[in-house]
Amino acid sequence: MKYYRLIVICILTTALSGMVAAQSAADLYKGKCQGCHGVDGHASPIGKKLGAKDFNDPDVAKMSQADIVRITTEGRNRMPAYKGKLTEQQIRELAKYVKEMK
Ligand code: HEC
Repeated sequence: MKYYRLIVICILTTALSGMVAAQSAADLYKGKCQGCHGVDGHASPIGKKLGAKDFNDPDVAKMSQADIVRITTEGRNRMPAYKGKLTEQQIRELAKYVKEMK
């Protein structure tokens, strides 16, 4: 019986931490990326001016999550680098969020 409760607690914590991670990726996006990449991944007027594409553009859609992690970490042209500003874990979650956006 004791073990059963322990297992239930484990499952609950895992499910909850998953939800928190999803929430924080959305918040991070809102705080750090939305200004240029728009609410739903359609580049804002500022983003467009700087050269950002919509996330549902075929060129972006074919990028892997690893490509997005690299661009977000190191930056590209006018896209700022987030190395040192966000943790690797946060960047990975953002990349997943971006992939799921279109
Ligand atoms: C100051 C504006 C700005 C901010 C803030 C910004 N980006 Fe970008 N981003 C750009 C620009 C401009 C490009 C196009 C770079 C190029 O010339 O290839 C770009 C490109 C990208 C690309 C490649 C696809 C594309 O649109 O060309 C991804 C993915 C991306 N950004 C993710 C992010 C994420 C994730 C964040 C938040 C952590 C973020 N960006 C924040 C300006 C920005």
